[in-house]
Amino acid sequence: MPSTVIVGAQWGDEGKGKIVDLLAQQSDVVCRFQGGANAGHTIVVDGETFKIRLIPSGIVSGKVCVIGAGVVVDPEVFLAEIDELGARGLDTDEVYLSGNAHLVMPWHVAIDQASERRLGKLQIGTTRRGIGPAYADKASRIGIRVQDVLDPKILRQKIEVALAEKNLWLERVYEVEPFDLTEIAERYEAYAQRLRPFVADTSLLVHRALEQGKHVLFEGAQATLLDLDHGTYPFVTSSNPVASTAATGIGIGPNRLDSILGVAKAYVTRVGEGPLPSEIPSPLQERICELGAEFGTVTGRKRRCGWLDLVGLRYATRLNGFTSFALTKLDVLSHFDEIPVCVRYLLPDGTETDEFPAHQSDFHHCRAVLETLPGWSEPLDGVERFEDLPPAASDYVAFVERELGIEVTLIGTGAGREQVLTRGAALERV
Ligand code: IMP
Repeated sequence: MPSTVIVGAQWGDEGKGKIVDLLAQQSDVVCRFQGGANAGHTIVVDGETFKIRLIPSGIVSGKVCVIGAGVVVDPEVFLAEIDELGARGLDTDEVYLSGNAHLVMPWHVAIDQASERRLGKLQIGTTRRGIGPAYADKASRIGIRVQDVLDPKILRQKIEVALAEKNLWLERVYEVEPFDLTEIAERYEAYAQRLRPFVADTSLLVHRALEQGKHVLFEGAQATLLDLDHGTYPFVTSSNPVASTAATGIGIGPNRLDSILGVAKAYVTRVGEGPLPSEIPSPLQERICELGAEFGTVTGRKRRCGWLDLVGLRYATRLNGFTSFALTKLDVLSHFDEIPVCVRYLLPDGTETDEFPAHQSDFHHCRAVLETLPGWSEPLDGVERFEDLPPAASDYVAFVERELGIEVTLIGTGAGREQVLTRGAALERV
């Protein structure tokens, strides 16, 4: 399929980077279309680990990498990644940055941090990378865009106007140190010079690639249940990680998106605040956390772990129109006699539902109804073909497929690029 969108189906950290990396082997262009440096994509190639926050995961395979208009770009993080990847021998000449993307500026990070501190117990648990404040300025039409770095005068003027207001907020509302105009202006003018060569008309670039029949991957960041409009608001991110955003975030028509691959972990994790109905009780949760190395790539925070939530996945399937699924980290479940799966929610009024609650109170107070499936004890890291999975493991996959009505075409059995089982002609069909 010429174009494939890859989207997280849960609350993030499903292992999208690894799946993108695998599919990138057969692609020409890899694009990020939303989010920013709040993402943390981990890719392991030949025992070498790459942790990337902003640049598309396709960089590891030397693909053309596009950061679209829908992304918020922290220039400091972007340039540090370019330097680090370059130092590790990767070619970064074909990284393109949309002039329409907005910049995450230092005051966005400061406001994100100060606002979380101020919210105290009501905090969202953000990654504190300035994502929300940057998107807020974009919506208020006072943001600074990547194309502003092309003209030093405009850049300086915009920084000046922004700081005049942001410093007031920082000092008077959040009671933190303001920024020094001269220092910021000089630092960002230096970044601007380095950013210039990456700026491109990325909408046109992707359009042309598709016209030429090239294979384009759209790499989602965060995940469906963190979607600003459809996720578990307010415990969400400030962009729309759902698949349709790939079109708006890049600037192509939605009819150019051919297939949509949902990535789900074989269980579920969540960082930050907000309900997690299928949360596993202690001490089992700690065990899964340890087995799955469930610590945030960006923040190092421990992720909360729950059993696979089919209600959430059914909702994600509806929102994204998944055409197939990747089920990652199946190997982590190899250690249990029985594996509970959340098949329905018990609502506060005593009724049960297999559809995601439309009202926040129902979701906040629902309980997971679990069905217990048999486990397996064989490790999966050496399994090379889907057919060689222990029967209970393939039954687990079949159960998910039956419940969701979608084929699982990729199965993660370990951290390495090669530790993904593909089913049939999975790579052509995702
Ligand atoms: P923000 O995106 O930093 O504003 O954080 C908002 C919410 O999204 C918090 O609950 C974060 O933990 C969560 N979040 C943001 N990015 C990721 C991610 O890449 N993986 C998992 N959770 C994320």
